[in-house]
Amino acid sequence: MPDSRTVAERVAQLCEQIELHNRRYHVLDDPLITDAQFDGLMRELEALEAQYPDLLRADSPTQRVGGAPLSAFASVQHTLPMLSLGNAFSDAEFEEFDRRARERLEVDEVSYTAETKLDGLAVSIRYERGVLTRAATRGDGSRGEDVTANVRTIKAVPLRLVGDAVPAVLEVRGEIYMSLHGFESLNRKQRESAGKTFANPRNAAAGGLRQLDPRISAARPLTMYCYGIGEVVTENGNDSIPSTQFERLQWLAELGLRVSPEVRRVRGAAACIEYHRAIGLRREQLGYEIDGCVFKVDRVDEQELLGQVSRAPRWAVAYKYPAQEQQTLLLAVDVQVGRTGTLTPVARLKPVQVGGVMVTNATLHNQDEIDRKDVRVGDTVIVRRAGDVIPEVVRLVTDDQHHTRPRYDLLDFVNGRCPVCGSRAERADGESAIRCTGGLICAAQRRQALWHFASRRAMDIDGLGEKVIAQLVELDRVKSPADLYSLNAESLQELERMGEKSAANLLVAIDASRQTTLARLIYALGIPEVGEATAQALAGWFGYLQLIMDADQATLVQVADVGPVVAAHIHGFFAESRNREIIDSLKAHGVRWQEAPGQQLVDAQEASESTRALHGKSVVITGTLSTPREQIKASLQALGAKVTNSVSKKTDFLLAGADAGSKLSKAHELGVAVVDEQWLQQLNPD
Ligand code: IVH
Repeated sequence: MPDSRTVAERVAQLCEQIELHNRRYHVLDDPLITDAQFDGLMRELEALEAQYPDLLRADSPTQRVGGAPLSAFASVQHTLPMLSLGNAFSDAEFEEFDRRARERLEVDEVSYTAETKLDGLAVSIRYERGVLTRAATRGDGSRGEDVTANVRTIKAVPLRLVGDAVPAVLEVRGEIYMSLHGFESLNRKQRESAGKTFANPRNAAAGGLRQLDPRISAARPLTMYCYGIGEVVTENGNDSIPSTQFERLQWLAELGLRVSPEVRRVRGAAACIEYHRAIGLRREQLGYEIDGCVFKVDRVDEQELLGQVSRAPRWAVAYKYPAQEQQTLLLAVDVQVGRTGTLTPVARLKPVQVGGVMVTNATLHNQDEIDRKDVRVGDTVIVRRAGDVIPEVVRLVTDDQHHTRPRYDLLDFVNGRCPVCGSRAERADGESAIRCTGGLICAAQRRQALWHFASRRAMDIDGLGEKVIAQLVELDRVKSPADLYSLNAESLQELERMGEKSAANLLVAIDASRQTTLARLIYALGIPEVGEATAQALAGWFGYLQLIMDADQATLVQVADVGPVVAAHIHGFFAESRNREIIDSLKAHGVRWQEAPGQQLVDAQEASESTRALHGKSVVITGTLSTPREQIKASLQALGAKVTNSVSKKTDFLLAGADAGSKLSKAHELGVAVVDEQWLQQLNPD
């Protein structure tokens, strides 16, 4: 039995290490260890806490995962009110805000801290002596709800502040939000489990934070950026707190809190407008939703001079971007046929400005989505447009008449036939898509299939654009991609706006595309769900087209990137004789692709190695062991591990025996998992 001091020390060390790695991962986006190593540390701590309950600390990272459900949230009085912000919607309105600030301060130019305006929920988090003691929503600004249990589950929120100068009391303010990636994966999971999906990341974040059961909250991918401070009490008076907003945010970051990397200090209105414009250009790449920028007078003494009107400060303003969601009328539903024959219902809308662009059409995705949203022609709906993404109908705004309108059924609407070619339209078992069975007979599919075939990342036929393809299909010159290779100058010159020179250039480009790679060819074929990465994986694994064409689904799923659905598509595609004929015809027209033995054939042994328990892991051995070191080394290597001499960030495990010294401390420092001989025996039962 280890002595209790050593256990207490190890618990403290684990708490510290886990919080360090949490911060590296969730606050600094710069992890030092793998997820598996992190899980190893967590498991060790959980085991020790279970065995020695006295050592369980309130700020232990194991306590994030949510306690018992609440019956209601307690109400919390904010020590200092949580203010809201006035808005500006144009450069002129922003300039007006800046002019008033300059006049009141009697200065020529004001310094601002420029921030993004996150679209989530405002919270206040209180740290006493560096430990998180309470978190509350904004509520009406004076009173909010106590959401401590839920906020504790958010990994980006430290349970304990770091550094030597932690104030006695620090109330941090910031926005809890959900990243777009988190939002999409949450909705996907909800859909798979037939749960409620969310209309936007903000609603999903609000739903997550205001969960009475913290365990549900813990499962939502919430995160936070801090943008300000509320109450602060320090040992030596508050003189030590930075005197500008910009420096205050830096101070928060030093205390281990998450601060947006987009924060800048800017001077004067023109620089603010430039910041707003530049962020606007990158808005879609941020990975989370913002609805504007916030500009705050940087100097706190100037903020105090300016004061506030009702609940909004005169020293800050939100310069908003045009809204990404709008309400409008659903006039009709049309059907579009895609490259792989999918029939997509498209909403025809009463024109409306969304995010600065006029929107008249929006996708309804598929029949399941129409059913789920229960939108009917004549309904008022919310349309959403984010960046380059196709606008979509996100939800219904119910009215008295909604139930009197007929439900929309796509298959009924098209009478079970493709609206373009009249072939049968059907819905395969377990799929949400309804597809036209016409294949390349269908002009819609043919046009898009050709366009995809010729695209830059596929066969790369320069000059074969949408308009040329549309004419070639309309005149029936090209029925399949292989027909492109029998085009000649005469047939091309029949096309509108195709001169002698462009026809000659196009023929050269078509000819050049005859030499290609296997990956490009597979991608060009346009197999449903087979994108560029999958095409590369297939080419790399099999090496020869014939092997892919003949592979059964069980073989296909062995390829990284290929799951059962993709395997079924690939298998189905090559089972179709029409598709095999296209490949024969491409060959007959001189199309050639490089083939070489792929991973599957070259190194069958390697494939079996990858299933070994320690494949690709790096292990260091230290201390006194009961078995000769060479023997341990051989066992590790037999399990696929690389055995190295020194511990680094890249080390996966340190196998430590008795009296381990500096390597053990290094492993603890770097958060490398420490294991013993018994662990090796478990992995290697024979
Ligand atoms: S400062 C005194 N900064 O916007 C200023 N707010 O309309 C108080 N928000 O309730 C807020 N990003 O939820 C500030 N960088 C940011 C913000 C931000 C988002 C939200 C916050 C607040 C609302 C104000």
